[in-house]
Amino acid sequence: MSEDNKEPTPANQGKESLEKAAMQDEQMQDIHAQLIREKEEPSEGFSPIPVFLVFVIMVLGFWGGIYLVTYSGEFSAKAFDPDYKVASTAPVVREIPLPEIGAKVYRNQCAQCHQADGNGLAGVYPPLGGSSWVTGHPEVMARILINGLNGPIEVAGNTYNGNMPAFGPSGLNLKPKEIAGVITYVRQEWGNEASEMSVEMIESYLEAYASRSTPWQAAELREDLGPVPEPAPEAEPEEDTEGEAEAAAETEVAQAG
Ligand code: HEC
Repeated sequence: MSEDNKEPTPANQGKESLEKAAMQDEQMQDIHAQLIREKEEPSEGFSPIPVFLVFVIMVLGFWGGIYLVTYSGEFSAKAFDPDYKVASTAPVVREIPLPEIGAKVYRNQCAQCHQADGNGLAGVYPPLGGSSWVTGHPEVMARILINGLNGPIEVAGNTYNGNMPAFGPSGLNLKPKEIAGVITYVRQEWGNEASEMSVEMIESYLEAYASRSTPWQAAELREDLGPVPEPAPEAEPEEDTEGEAEAAAETEVAQAG
């Protein structure tokens, strides 16, 4: 069995592998020497970020933002509760009070003539503060605003004769809420103390007068007025009488002691 003879004895094996290793070492040194020779010279400074990388980062940032908006569960720990329902995504609309809407409409639509202080311009634009047209029957103001007004009119002892534009559908076409708001605002500003004009009220007045195409004359403004609509009952803030009573009792006790 010649093959058996060729089988490496442990001693043989050690010698062979040593030789091999030596050879590899030499090769490796050669390669290293080559590498060292050919290596680029180090230089100072920095290279700019590749444009495409900047682009990728921006896209990732954008995607991250959208992801958070969509899936953050409003950052609530409850989002991990399987029974948790994310609050409706519909935006919560704050009901803006009529006088607040009205103040804005007034600044944009009326102040250029009747002035920010509601005093008008002597001889040209009548005042709104202290005007009985404003604080009287609400239908009067609704008529003026919806259809406009012209011809002579006496306001607070002075006579005016100009043109008041219409703000109803035949004129500047403000929304019912805006008309109700500005009427409410004017009726309650500059010392005026009249009832509010609700949106429902102005809607019924709009129904009645939208088809009228001519502005009102002062003389007809107070004719055929409907009944004054009941003002919506105002919620009176409840007084904290309980707290007061308690405080009184306490002082009594203190005095007794
Ligand atoms: C282009 C100027 C002009 C604008 C804008 C205007 N008015 Fe007038 N307004 C007048 C004139 C002029 C009169 C008087 C009309 C007349 O002589 O018949 C008048 C009359 C009035 C009157 C009745 C008289 C009085 O002083 O009480 C009221 C109420 C009134 N305006 C409210 C308003 C409100 C509210 C707005 C804004 C939504 C407004 N006006 C916008 C010019 C204007």
